[in-house]
Amino acid sequence: MNLIDYPRWPSLARESILNVPMDLRSIKLSIDGKVIDYSEEIDSVVITGMGGSGVVGDIINDLCWFWDCRVPIIVSKNMRLPKRLSRPLVIAISYSGNTAETIMSANEALSRGYPVIGVTTGGKLSTVLTNKGAPVVLIPKASAPRYGLPALLYPTLIILERFGVASVINELESGISGIEDALKRVDDAINLAKQLVNSVPVVWVTESRRGVGIRFKNDLNENAKYYSVVSVVPEGAHNDIAAVTTKQGGLKHVAIMGPNDYEGMYEEVLIDVLSSFGAKPIIVKLEGKTPLETEMYGVTYLGMVTLALAELLGVEPVSTEPIDRLKNLLSERRVFQV
Ligand code: PA5
Repeated sequence: MNLIDYPRWPSLARESILNVPMDLRSIKLSIDGKVIDYSEEIDSVVITGMGGSGVVGDIINDLCWFWDCRVPIIVSKNMRLPKRLSRPLVIAISYSGNTAETIMSANEALSRGYPVIGVTTGGKLSTVLTNKGAPVVLIPKASAPRYGLPALLYPTLIILERFGVASVINELESGISGIEDALKRVDDAINLAKQLVNSVPVVWVTESRRGVGIRFKNDLNENAKYYSVVSVVPEGAHNDIAAVTTKQGGLKHVAIMGPNDYEGMYEEVLIDVLSSFGAKPIIVKLEGKTPLETEMYGVTYLGMVTLALAELLGVEPVSTEPIDRLKNLLSERRVFQV
């Protein structure tokens, strides 16, 4: 099976962190008379980005269910930032650096006087931020944004460490072990992919694995060009679950479970209820000794499932023509001023 950039993920993770500037906390800039001082205390972190870049925020949110993150993480997937932020650090992530929503959010953050750090391979985001004196972490390239996930995630983790938000350093290598373990499961990934053919996967995840579920859905969409839905419990157990009583053909329930999820028993009950209505959920057990290891195992393994599915369906995994067309049309019609 063609794993595209997945075999490079351990080295992408290691290389990308070398590019995080050492002096992040000593940066001070002035924009329109407002001084932005990166050494000041923050009370939240906004992670802004779309698609394969934006999922970094979801993954970090998952990790903060296990880690003692000092401030809330706000995941923003929009062209505007949430209102009424107090003292946030804004991390603007765009693999290409040319995603208008992310550039607009970064610009808005600077004009509101917030410290912004870009994580990108270059593009306009890098130019805009550099011209204003804001720091940019330049990351190594991959075949498409989603295949560069560790290069987007690992520098972001280092930024969180530098701002005292979370203690990540001791877990970084375990995250890489999670990737390596998943890479050994190609045959399992192919078997799971075979079970998804001719179905609409319904991906059940708990709040603390929301990022893994969203990433799986996104990879199904983009690699295999396949529709799927994610149901996050407990909430999904109060609405999505009701649909199981209808004999709607073609659905395939996939329940993702981590080893130490505090909602584990809840999900077991959910699976029993689904089964009692005749559904036969496929259970995917994530492996790993640390939160980061489990998370990286999950996104790598499930990503490989989507590549296997693409191969079974005879679909070319890398290109995402509708997304490109949307971006071109947004630009042509000047929807964004960037
Ligand atoms: O994975 C993909 O190709 C997409 O989801 C992109 O990540 C998304 O369109 C945003 O682009 P970028 O990551 O370059 O900001």
